[in-house]
Parts: sequence; C-alpha cells; structure tokens
Amino acid sequence: MGIDHRAFVSGGRDGVERFMRISVVGCGYLGAVHAAAMADLGHEVVGVDVDESKIAALREARAPFYEPGFEELLARTLATGRLRFSTDVAEAAGAQLHFVCVGTPQKRGENGADLRYVEAAAESLLGVVSPGDLVVGKSTVPVGTAARLAELVGGKVPGALLAWNPEFLREGFAVHDTLHPDRLVYGLPDGADGATAERMLDEVYAPIVARGTPKVITDYATAEMVKTAANSFLATKISFINAMAELCEATGADVCQLADAIGYDDRIGRKFLNAGLGFGGGCLPKDIRAFMARAGELGADQALTFLREVDNINMRRRIRMVELAREVCGGSLLGKRIAVLGAAFKPDSDDIRDSPALNVAAQLQLQGAVVRVTDPAAVENSRREWPHLDYAATPEEAAERADAVLLLTEWKQYRELDPVAFGKVVAGKRVLDGRNALDRETWTAAGWTYRALGRRAG
Ligand code: UDX
Repeated sequence: MGIDHRAFVSGGRDGVERFMRISVVGCGYLGAVHAAAMADLGHEVVGVDVDESKIAALREARAPFYEPGFEELLARTLATGRLRFSTDVAEAAGAQLHFVCVGTPQKRGENGADLRYVEAAAESLLGVVSPGDLVVGKSTVPVGTAARLAELVGGKVPGALLAWNPEFLREGFAVHDTLHPDRLVYGLPDGADGATAERMLDEVYAPIVARGTPKVITDYATAEMVKTAANSFLATKISFINAMAELCEATGADVCQLADAIGYDDRIGRKFLNAGLGFGGGCLPKDIRAFMARAGELGADQALTFLREVDNINMRRRIRMVELAREVCGGSLLGKRIAVLGAAFKPDSDDIRDSPALNVAAQLQLQGAVVRVTDPAAVENSRREWPHLDYAATPEEAAERADAVLLLTEWKQYRELDPVAFGKVVAGKRVLDGRNALDRETWTAAGWTYRALGRRAG
C-alpha cells in the first residue's frame, strides 16, 4: 500500500520534492490515520491530541483502536522520522497546513452535533497559525461552521486561510480510503484566497490528484453538506431495504432475493442494501440527527422529516430482533441462555458506538435472558461501556448450553462457523441471523432452526 515517493518527486510542480509540514489536531479514527497517511505521502507530520495515553500508544506504533493495516502504516511512517505525535499543540507551529480532525459527537439529550472539540481545536490552533498557513477542517460539522471558523482564523491571524475538506473513510477500510479516496472535496473561500488554498491542498494530495481522482471545488456550505448528505443517503438506503424487510415479514417474501433483484438495476445498485439489524456506529446515526437539527435551525426542517422515519425504521429492527428471540425461545426470555455473536457496530472494527448488537444484547438481558456476548475485537471496549453484560472469548464459549444463538455482527469467522460442530455446544439449535450473513441451507441441513430478519423461517 506504500506510495512511490519517486513518482511524487517527479510529479512535483517544478521538479523538486514538495513535501509539506503538516499538523493534524485530533488523533482518533480519522486524525491518526490521516496523519500517518500524509507522512506516507512524503510529508512531515505532527499529530496532536489531548489524550496522553493515545499519544503514548501512537508513538510506540500501537493503534489505540482496531483498524486493519493501520499499525503497519504507523510503524512504516514512524520509522521514516517524518511522523511524530505530541500532546502539545505548540508543536504544530511551523506547519503550513493544520488539519482539524476532532470528533463531533451528538450532544447529550439533543439531536444536534456537539462542536466543543472543533471549537477547542480551532482556538488552540490560533496560537500557532502563521500568515500564509491553511487550516483544513475534516470533521463532520453542521453547515455554517466553516464560515464561522474562517472568520475566527482570518480575524486573529490575517493572511491565514481556511478550507473545508470532508473525509469519507469507512472504519475497517480507513487506510485504503485515506490513501485512495474516491473523490476529493475542497470547500474554499472566494477569489484569490480560494486559488491559494486549492494549490496547497493539491500539493498535499499530489499523488492522489495525479492519479486522476475526481475533485469537487466548491464553497464551504456545499463541502459541509456533501458529507452529511452522503451519510444521510447511505442511512436511507439501509432503512429502505429494512422497511422492505418488514413487508417481507408480513408477506412471506424474501428480502435478500428482493435486494439482489433490485440491485441488478445499476441505477439502484446492490451496495448498502444488506437488510438486517440496521446501521450504528459513530457516524450514520448521529449525522442524520445533527442534519435534522441543523435543518430545523435554518427553518428548513420539512426537507429532512423523512430522516426521522429513516431513524425509526432503523430502531425498529432492534426491537424486532428481541421479539424474534422471544419467539424462538417459546414466548418468554426469562432464564433463557442466549449467545450473542458480535458486539462491534460492524465487522473489522472494535467501535461499539451506537452498536445495534450491544443494544439488542442489553435489551435481552433486561428482559430476563442470560446473555453471553463475544466479539473478536470489541470485548474490551464493550466490557468498559456495558459492564453488566457477560462476555466470552470465543463463540463456542458464548454458546455453551445456549437456547439460542444470535449473529449480530457479521465477522468473517462467524460467517464461516461450521454449524455441525457448533451445534454440539448448544442446548437448542436455534440461530437468529441478524445480518443475513449465514447460509440458511447449510444451517438447516445441520438441524438448526434458522430465523432471519425479512426472511421466512428455515
Ligand atoms: C460511514 C460511511 O460509510 C463513511 O463514508 C463515513 O465517512 C463515515 O460513516 P462507517 O460508520 O465506518 O462509515 O460504516 P459503514 O460501513 O457505512 O456502515 C454503517 C452501518 O451500516 C454499520 O452498522 C453497518 O452494519 C450498517 N450497514 C451497512 C447495513 O446495515 N447494511 C448495509 O448494507 C451496509
């Protein structure tokens, strides 16, 4: 996955290596990967975060989160000497570009985005930014934030500019998505300042631009909206197929075949039409809510009322899963032993933010079931956030004497379980496929009762 730096040199505007000095503020999923990826492109990068343990781990080439390929990238770039990490924002002084990569979680008790970390990052940068520097926002923010920050930066440091450059990385594919994005979006100030900012971003992303990656040059508001619109579209697509799953449950139709059949139409496409327990994670749920909240503030709430329904459909899937578990357990969950395979919000991640799997596991336990949860990567995080649940190291351990097994996150190792061998550890061969990820025929042939969302009982 390494980038050929010779190509970068020859791609430079005047034949010299045009590496840049960069700071990245916020070293979470987005920032840490961005910092290492920018060093991999040949730049000199300092990653800054207030969390000392995170910085200590990154300095030792240990990833503070599970992300395939990231530790290798980290080790490789740290070894070049081009990448360092610090808790002191003063270290960002001297950089020409300052990327803001902090989180924008949902506000407590409200739908809107909590901008306190973005604001703190911008404030802290004001002390180190010099005239001619470019501050680049990558965090997902409510529309209007960039214009406000541009005024703040330009007001305090005349000659310093701001651009908005949203990031579309998917967890589990963060390294690939950062080094090989499918598009670049630059939200720029007007006029000559915009041209300067564009040139600086093109220099940073030189190998990516040279590859012919589509580039959208636009204003701040559009750039901010691209991100929330993209995530809203993806959430809508998932909830659309899950609404179809509800209808399939009422009619006896099969949602997987339906998705395949409509997905062949390339105007629709099969991607993001996997029916199941629905979306979770640190982005889709909070982004659609923050988008609705912002539309309300702008007096355009009607435009996004459909997203409330998207959210409702998504949440109903979790309730349906609990009902289905009760059904296969003979009408009551009391004292029933249930194995939950998967805790992360999706496979190849240890992220449990708004995880549908843990939400279902907790509801089952509250309703009297004896629940054991397992996950290849997310048990440690889950134990911290959901200490009342019981955890197991392996699927076999979780499923020992279980009355039902629920597959709630479709890790490869769960999809490849051998239903014959696995059948020997459980008390009752009942499997609920919350992600439509198992092969129904193989499981039923091994004597299991197979139930899934949006499909007939097998
Ligand atoms: C998402 C966007 O994809 C990414 O572009 C953006 O930058 C951040 O938010 P991510 O949260 O990593 O990325 O996960 P994604 O792969 O989009 O999955 C989101 C959720 O939808 C997961 O819980 C997943 O299980 C669920 N999902 C996805 C489905 O239920 N069905 C599908 O067909 C696809």
